[in-house]
Order: sequence, then C-alpha cells, then structure tokens
Amino acid sequence: MEKKRVLSCIQPTGNMHFGNYFGAVKNWVKMQESYECYYGVVDYHSMTMPYQPDKLRQNTWDLIFNLMAVGINPEFLFIQSLVPEHAELSWIFNCFTPYGRLMQMTQFKDKSATATDDGFVSAGLLDYPVLQAADILIYRADYVPVGKDQDQHLELTRTIAQRFNNQVGKEYFVLPEGLHSDTPKIASTADPLRKMSKSAGEKHSINVFEDSERIRKQIRSAVTDAGDQPAGEMSLGVQNLFELIKAGENMTAYTSLMEDYNAENLKYVDLKAAAAETLVALSEQFREKRAELLANKKDVKNQIKASSAEIRKRAQETIREVKELTGLMNVKF
Ligand code: AMP
Ligand code: TRP
Repeated sequence: MEKKRVLSCIQPTGNMHFGNYFGAVKNWVKMQESYECYYGVVDYHSMTMPYQPDKLRQNTWDLIFNLMAVGINPEFLFIQSLVPEHAELSWIFNCFTPYGRLMQMTQFKDKSATATDDGFVSAGLLDYPVLQAADILIYRADYVPVGKDQDQHLELTRTIAQRFNNQVGKEYFVLPEGLHSDTPKIASTADPLRKMSKSAGEKHSINVFEDSERIRKQIRSAVTDAGDQPAGEMSLGVQNLFELIKAGENMTAYTSLMEDYNAENLKYVDLKAAAAETLVALSEQFREKRAELLANKKDVKNQIKASSAEIRKRAQETIREVKELTGLMNVKF
C-alpha cells in the first residue's frame, strides 16, 4: 500500500529548544518510519515580518543543520525558496481565498498588533496562511503535524482546497488533516506558568545543543514549588520536570521517581538530576552529530540543494496540472 504523506514546515528563526524538539520535531523524526515525509524550512514565510536578508539566509542553513543533527533525513528536507512553485501556487490560491477570512486569523491579529514601531504591517503577513495552504497542498499532503495554534490555518487550507475543487469540478486536492502530538506543552523551567519559548528571554528556554554544564545549572535552578496548584496536587514545575524525563524517554527514572512521589518521599534534587541527565544525554548526541555535519558543510549544503531539486519536481507536476485546470498557459520553454 502506498504510504500516506506527511508535511510540516518550520520558520528559520532562532535556535531550537527542547520545547520545539519534544513538542514538534521529535515527532517529525518518528514519522519518517511510516510516512512519505516533506519537511520544509520556510524562508518565504520569514519575510512577512521585518527581517535582515543576510541573517535570514544564515538562519535557514542553521535550521537545516539543526534538523539533520536531531535526526531528520535530508532526503525529506527542502528549503522553500528553492521550490518557488510554492509562491506561484499561493498566487493562484489568493484568487480562491475569501479575503475576509484572512483578517480573522488569530496569528495575524496577534502579530499585526505587535508589528513594528512605525506601524508597518505587510500584506505578506495577512497573506501568510495562503502560502501555508500552498506548502501543504502542492504535495497533496494527507497529514500535517502542527501545534494546535495552527488549526485555524489548516481549516482555511481545507476551505481553499474545497473552493478550488468546486470551481474546477474535480476532487483535485486532498483535504489535509492536522496531527497533534501527544506531548503537552513544555513549560519554562524558570517560570512553569509560561511555555518554554525563546522570545521570553534566555532563562525561559533550553537550547537542544546547549553544553552539559549549563543544562545542569538551568535545571538545578528550576522552580518547583511556586504555589500554583491547590495543596496536595503536583505543582506545575514538578509536573514539567517529570514531563521532560518522560518526553526524553528515560522511563526507568520516570517510574521510580513517580513511585517516590506517590509514597510522598520524592526528593527534588533527585528529580532535577534525572531531568538534567535526560536532556544532557540527548544534547551530547545532538552536538556530536551537528559537529560532524558542520565539518562537511559544503557536502551537506549540496545534499539539501539536491533534495530540494528532487522535491521541486513533484511541486512542478502539481503546478502543471493546476495551470491546466485553471486556464493558465502551460508551455515548456
Ligand atoms: P515556534 O518556535 O514557537 O514557532 O514553534 C515551532 C514548533 O515548536 C511549533 O510546532 C510549536 O507548537 C512547537 N513548540 C514551541 N514551543 C513549545 C513548547 N514550549 N512546548 C511544546 N511545543 C512547542
Ligand atoms: N505557520 C507555521 C508556524 O507558524 C509554519 C508553517 C508554514 C507550516 N507553512 C506550513 C506548518 C505548512 C505546517 C505546514 O509554525
């Protein structure tokens, strides 16, 4: 039987932290075993907010190396701007998108409200979900693993696909479904009331390539009892440390510490040590792999250019069919 297709994309901004890894990327790695996967580093999307051109290119390559270091197979990886058909399809989709829906998107409302000092909000920011629809539909993806915050964009993707199908009188595009990973949000160790995030400040996230001593230090100072839960219930900080151990699949430690907790003799120092060692073991492995890749930078870049070219052929096939269906010109020059 043919494998189902999975597609997901990530913007090249900043570093990868354990929230991103456990909440999203680890799942991508796992899905490679049973699906035909498409994983994009979406640099066109990163132009929707003010940015610096040379930094964008640098961040794009950094993210490629990071994704490969944590286990993404380069054959499934592509850089969006190396497949310009995404932008072409998004123009066509613009003409199948009710623009009022774009104004209702929460991500647009949030980001446009916090835009820039001079109040500049680009049309690209408004149009972003249409490009996202093109990312997904151009490969006829069945499943899209994303956070719940992307549900609204996926719903719009289905609306666009449906409208397109109706207009051309053919069930051409598959209506994709979201896949939510079962890992709950990872919280900041410094403030378990908020999610681990790079934008909140340095102490609120732990980079997956962080050196071991700094990880240990950060976990040692993790907040455990912030009085955020009713008496007798596990505090959010303690829950989060357990969650990190479980997400890192250190199940022996997890079970034994949970037994201690249930017997009311859990020592936070032991819980923290186990959480730290779980993350340290992962980061050591990731750093080693990343160093190997960086030692062969040129080869790796060529490999990604080649995989993007390969993936591009599939995108071109879709564009050809879409042009046929929509009355545009299809000439091979
Ligand atoms: P962001 O860097 O916020 O754009 O997120 C990239 C991906 O990582 C998205 O799929 C998020 O759902 C996921 N993610 C980000 N932060 C966390 C977190 N603290 N816990 C779990 N998943 C997260
Ligand atoms: N909008 C997504 C985010 O903010 C990133 C993204 C762009 C995406 N294109 C996509 C996710 C296609 C899934 C599928 O995280």
